[in-house]
Amino acid sequence: MVEDEELKASVRTIPDYPKPGIMFRDITTLLGNARAFRRAVDQLVHPYAGGKIDKVAGIEARGFILGGAVAHQLSAGFVPIRKKGKLPHQTVRMAYALEYGTDEMEIHVDAIRRGEKVILVDDLIATGGTAEGAVKLLRQIGAEVVAACFIIDLPDLGGADRLRAMDVPVRTLMAFG
Ligand code: PRP
Ligand code: ADE
Repeated sequence: MVEDEELKASVRTIPDYPKPGIMFRDITTLLGNARAFRRAVDQLVHPYAGGKIDKVAGIEARGFILGGAVAHQLSAGFVPIRKKGKLPHQTVRMAYALEYGTDEMEIHVDAIRRGEKVILVDDLIATGGTAEGAVKLLRQIGAEVVAACFIIDLPDLGGADRLRAMDVPVRTLMAFG
């Protein structure tokens, strides 16, 4: 991965949020910078432009902002993966652990038609617990997960390797050690 230094500089780091010892990589500064936001979305989309991606799945909440923009640019549909209790129709649910907690996420059972090609989008992969749960939900409802794409990788926490071990190609735009 060749890092875009200007893009990387647009991410703000907040030490000890939300818990002591966590270096929180805050993308609100990237999103608020028009040039950085456009570049991030363009770089996420680039490998799939012109290819046949049916749907983009985004993980609540930061993955909605990026996933919506990526879906629009690929002329694909958007599928929300939400924290439990927010989706109104029948769902499948998965418990997961992330760098600083545990939660449950859901997807509508009919969000994907069997065999549709889907890319998963989120802002950041740390332990990979969230993304692994999302891939399992997508596969459970019949998706072919073509790739998982993130702006930020925290490679010391092993999440990208965990997804690759599930045969999911992973793309990230920058890493923080
Ligand atoms: C953050 C981030 C990823 C996840 C990564 O979301 O946006 O979804 O953590 O952590 P992991 O790789 O260790 O699982 P968070 O649950 O904080 O939700 P938010 O987007 O609503 O802030
Ligand atoms: N999600 C999990 N770990 C994170 C971190 N260090 N910064 C921002 N979001 C995160």
